[in-house]
Amino acid sequence: MRLPTRHLLGIETLHPRDISAFLDLAESYALLNRSGKTRRDVLRGRTLINLFFEDSTRTRTSFELAGKRLGADVINMSVSTSSVSKGETLLDTAATLNAMNCDLLVVRHKASGAPALLAQKVDAAVINAGDGMHEHPTQALLDALTIRRHKGTLEGLTIAICGDIAHSRVARSNILLLIAMGSQVRVVGPPTLIPSGIEQFGVSVFHDMREGLRDADIVMALRLQTERMSGGLIPSAREFFTFYGLDAAKLALAKPDALVMHPGPMNRGVEIDSQVADDVTRSVIREQVEMGVAVRMAVLDVLARTALRNA
Ligand code: NCD
Repeated sequence: MRLPTRHLLGIETLHPRDISAFLDLAESYALLNRSGKTRRDVLRGRTLINLFFEDSTRTRTSFELAGKRLGADVINMSVSTSSVSKGETLLDTAATLNAMNCDLLVVRHKASGAPALLAQKVDAAVINAGDGMHEHPTQALLDALTIRRHKGTLEGLTIAICGDIAHSRVARSNILLLIAMGSQVRVVGPPTLIPSGIEQFGVSVFHDMREGLRDADIVMALRLQTERMSGGLIPSAREFFTFYGLDAAKLALAKPDALVMHPGPMNRGVEIDSQVADDVTRSVIREQVEMGVAVRMAVLDVLARTALRNA
């Protein structure tokens, strides 16, 4: 597999062929992980730094686990314990990490474009682990892998992404990936949480959740990302749940075998009802987390090989 760049900054720059190759490799890592075997040689002698300027549970842990399973030396830096809290700029932090000859730099930042800026300044391969409202490419890949494992393909599926689309990098990366792979994507939510002009991406917009869910193959719920909202965009969490919360009654309008997904963290009783989230016959939320490790192993593997080729 040959990537157009040595970084993974977004889905936008990937060709459908690259996406399929990532998913195929991740699938083989998923099987390996289930068998309990690891491949500690792939990243032996390499250093991975997790640089997280925003909170994270799943993404940071799964990058750490993925790096360790492949044999890398993994260092976790969280901002509250680093010199960033002493006023160091992003680029000075980058220069410091660069001087330590790190090979893979996983970055999460509240500003859109921060990983791309770092990529210009460091020698390491940079992986975007979520930048502001922009992109979260490994989340889209793990969502796609989860869907493909259940439905066999992404092509021709109807996928409803529901809730706070406007502030969601997960929605953006998913839309780019799923449209590129031939899915029909619907975005469902109140007008205040759907960016105007989003139809340009090739999605259809629904403000009525029941309409948006009708005959869908996949229903993906997203959290209200209040930390990125400036002002009250919804009347109340309770009202939001009434109209846009994914509960059994609304889910009944989707296909009988429709899958329920959520990138986490979930706010139960706001965008999703516990009964639906915990229904093992419909919800693949735990499998998404499992696939997160496999996808990140595939991404680290490919980027490390790309770096070797370019060396
Ligand atoms: C998402 C994120 O950080 O963008 N979480 C994740 O990575 N699984 C979604 C969110 O914060 O709501």
